[in-house]
Amino acid sequence: MALWFFTLFLFISPCLSYKPVVLIHGVMTGSGSMEMIAHRIQEKHPNTTVYNCNRFESWSSLETMWHQVLEIGQDVANISLQHPEGINLIGYSQGGLIARGIIQTFPNVSVSTFISLSSPQAGQYGAGFLHLVFPGLLKESAFELFYSRVGQHTSVGNYWNDPYHQPLYENYSVFLPYINNHLESPKTADFKSNLLRLKRLVLIGGPDDNVITPWQSSQFGYYDANETVIEMHDQPIYKDDKIGLKSLDKKGKLHVVTVPGVNHFSWHMNVSIVDDYLLPYLD
Ligand SMILES: *[C@@H]1O[C@H](CO)[C@@H](O)[C@H](O)[C@H]1NC(C)=O
Ligand SMILES: *[C@@H]1O[C@H](CO)[C@@H](O)[C@H](O)[C@H]1NC(C)=O
Ligand SMILES: *[C@@H]1O[C@H](CO)[C@@H](O)[C@H](O)[C@H]1NC(C)=O
Ligand SMILES: *[C@@H]1O[C@H](CO)[C@@H](O)[C@H](O)[C@H]1NC(C)=O
Ligand SMILES: *[C@@H]1O[C@H](CO)[C@@H](O)[C@H](O)[C@H]1NC(C)=O
Ligand SMILES: *[C@@H]1O[C@H](CO)[C@@H](O)[C@H](O)[C@H]1NC(C)=O
Repeated sequence: MALWFFTLFLFISPCLSYKPVVLIHGVMTGSGSMEMIAHRIQEKHPNTTVYNCNRFESWSSLETMWHQVLEIGQDVANISLQHPEGINLIGYSQGGLIARGIIQTFPNVSVSTFISLSSPQAGQYGAGFLHLVFPGLLKESAFELFYSRVGQHTSVGNYWNDPYHQPLYENYSVFLPYINNHLESPKTADFKSNLLRLKRLVLIGGPDDNVITPWQSSQFGYYDANETVIEMHDQPIYKDDKIGLKSLDKKGKLHVVTVPGVNHFSWHMNVSIVDDYLLPYLD
């Protein structure tokens, strides 16, 4: 009798116990762009609560990364405290970098699965992304704007990572070198221990993205000083386990997913991406 009851419980419980999902949109868009994902999750996982962040839409998505991390993070902390069993967090493009910032900064945000959907996790150095916002700017000279006090007042400047101007990047960038524990700060230890609380870290990207440059940045790969891409496993952030990627990997919690044939503006519009690469990882 007891065994039967237990089996029945295991059989039924997955349907009733999907954890809530929080969605964070990309730059120059808003919650509307994430609605297909929200609807599909609710269609396939009925009764799942989906929170679709509607802060920092459109032009305000260019506000600084720290400001967005701290503001959206308060919302996510509130949501997380209402769901002590844990939440799923999905961030698309810039939203995936904001999401990671939130996980690493807020001890009261308790994320089971974090999915980074084509996000510039190791930074960005390419015209594709730049021209979404700054059509006239060349990637070769963008550092002159971004690596200044004024340039750091935009989100894009906060993760602009010019391989030819690393000393300036280290001097001026207030976000990415810190959140990646490339530069030490009083938060270094917390940034790592908070990320290590994840049950699952899923990094999705692909070679036909055409906006995230290099596309491997979506999986913590990046350019060396000669613009040759060095993949994640050969990067100091992984080798020296700076933020916990290697530890998560050793425990089987890191999932690196490469999907060809998807343009940057299709990831969040493509139902098969949700079905094949998001739903299977949700808790
Ligand atoms: C959804 O919730 C309702 C009401 O709580 C419940 O009756 C129904 O069985 C649930 N559906 C699934 C698929 O879990
Ligand atoms: C979070 O919850 C607190 C306390 O319940 C509330 O005062 C605050 O307004 C909420 N903040 C947000 C951003 O929802
Ligand atoms: C969550 O933690 C942050 C930072 O420690 C704090 O500012 C915030 O008030 C907390 N939020 C809630 C809802 O407790
Ligand atoms: C970086 O800052 C240090 C200390 O202020 C300064 O000595 C150095 O020249 C700066 N380097 C660059 C490339 O700006
Ligand atoms: C860059 O290329 C030059 C010339 O081929 C080479 O000497 C140098 O070691 C390379 N640097 C890096 C970081 O790969
Ligand atoms: C949708 O995603 C699939 C992979 O799941 C990919 O093969 C296909 O090319 C994508 N379609 C578009 C329009 O991006």
